[in-house]
Formats: sequence, C-alpha cells, structure tokens
Amino acid sequence: METHLNGIKLAYSDEGNGPAIIMLHAFPLAGAMWREQVAALREHYRIVVPDLRGFGDSDAPPGPYLMDQMADDVAALLKKLGISQSAVVGLSMGGYIAFSLWRRHRQTISALVLADTRAAADTPDGQATRESNARLVEHEGPPAIAAKMIPNLIAPRASQALRDELARLIHANRSTGIAAALRGMALRHDSQPDLASITVPTLVIVGTEDSLTPPAEAEAMHHALPNSTLMQIKDAGHLSNLEQPAAFNAALQSFFTA
Ligand code: MLT
Repeated sequence: METHLNGIKLAYSDEGNGPAIIMLHAFPLAGAMWREQVAALREHYRIVVPDLRGFGDSDAPPGPYLMDQMADDVAALLKKLGISQSAVVGLSMGGYIAFSLWRRHRQTISALVLADTRAAADTPDGQATRESNARLVEHEGPPAIAAKMIPNLIAPRASQALRDELARLIHANRSTGIAAALRGMALRHDSQPDLASITVPTLVIVGTEDSLTPPAEAEAMHHALPNSTLMQIKDAGHLSNLEQPAAFNAALQSFFTA
C-alpha cells in the first residue's frame, strides 16, 4: 500500500487485527526485513510496516533525512491510519527514529522495543565515515555499500541465503536515499538525556554478537530506562530479527503479552 504525506509517497504494509505495532527498519534496508515478525504477530496484532523515506518503494527526495523528519513521517502515517497509539519497534536506525518519535510525538507510543540500537549520537569519526560512505554510494551505487556493510550487519556464521537476501534489499534501494539517511544519521541528537523520561514499557534487544551496537550499549540503555527489560539474542549479530527470528519473535511475544 502507499499514501502521500509530508510531500512524499510512503509505502507501507498494514496487516492483522488487534493492538497496533509499528515496525521501523534498519539502514540501509526496507520494511521487508520484518517479514518473519509480521508473520508471527499478525494473528493477534495490527502490524504496520513502512518503507521509511528513501527506502524500498517510498520516495527518495533529496536529504539529509533528519531522524526528526522520519519520526514525523511515522506519526503522520499513524494518524492517516487512524491509530492514536501504537507500540513502536525500531531496530538500529529504526531505534534512532523511535527516540525522535518519543521526543516529538510521545502520546502516540504505548510501548517501545529498541533493538540493536544506541542512544548516543555519532562521534566526529563516525560522522566522517558516514560522509565518506555517502560519497561512496553516490559514486558507485548501492552494491558498494552492501559489500562494505553486510559483513558488519550479521554474525560471521550467518547463512549465505541471508547474505544474499540482504544484498537484494540493499541493491534495490536508491543511492539518493542511502546517502540522505547517512547524512541524517550523522546529524541525529544524543538521546541519552531522554532515556530517564521514557516511562512506557520498553524492551531492549541485542544480538550477543552485535559489533555495531554491542551488548554493552544495550545494557547501558537498559540501566538508564526506568521501565525496561533486556533480552540478549544468542548467535545473532546486528540484524538479530533476521538472524534468529524465532528467538526475536518469542521475545516480542512475551513482552507484548506481559
Ligand atoms: C542500521 O542498522 O540501521 C545502521 O547500522 C545504523 C547505523 O549505521 O548507525
């Protein structure tokens, strides 16, 4: 499905019945990364999955895409769908957007799942790497970013099938969108000061082998969040929902039924 909001076409799926859950994907992927979670949860929940601006079938206008802008897109989508409150699941970049959503539209959030993400802003080194990756994708296209990123997105023993699926998802994106999101992530706020204000039930998930947002980051967030549970997913790297879908889904199910 698609809708028009905030001056762009936004693609999304909307499946199932029950309390709403919106799932925000990682960089540089698309909503399709949540397919196993949608299949597991749609029997009891209404699951909304956008392709965030710049990704999948959504428009990719010029950037940078500030996390606040992407959060405003999410809030506008919820409003269009008549959803006044939703649980929000964000993995990595999706988590950065969830923090912005909390700052700007917290009345829409009933619960939060922060998976393989971090509250801190980029360091100056991290910002410089984002800019060089943005130039790389502008000059060489999505396959160059896929080749550079995939080894860091998943644990070394992840299957070739998963590597191929990730490459397909990344190659299908546009260079403009990837570069714009990189530049937007580099400009994101430090969300650490907000953690103490997040009073909704929050589940923090991390793959034990996540090298991009390691378990120590998740533990620090869990300690700073007043109402949180921490779940580590064994034998998973950064994309823990794709690497260990059964364990990830079980964590979501037990959190949402608690
Ligand atoms: C992601 O998975 O969304 C990215 O690794 C986030 C980032 O580059 O900070």
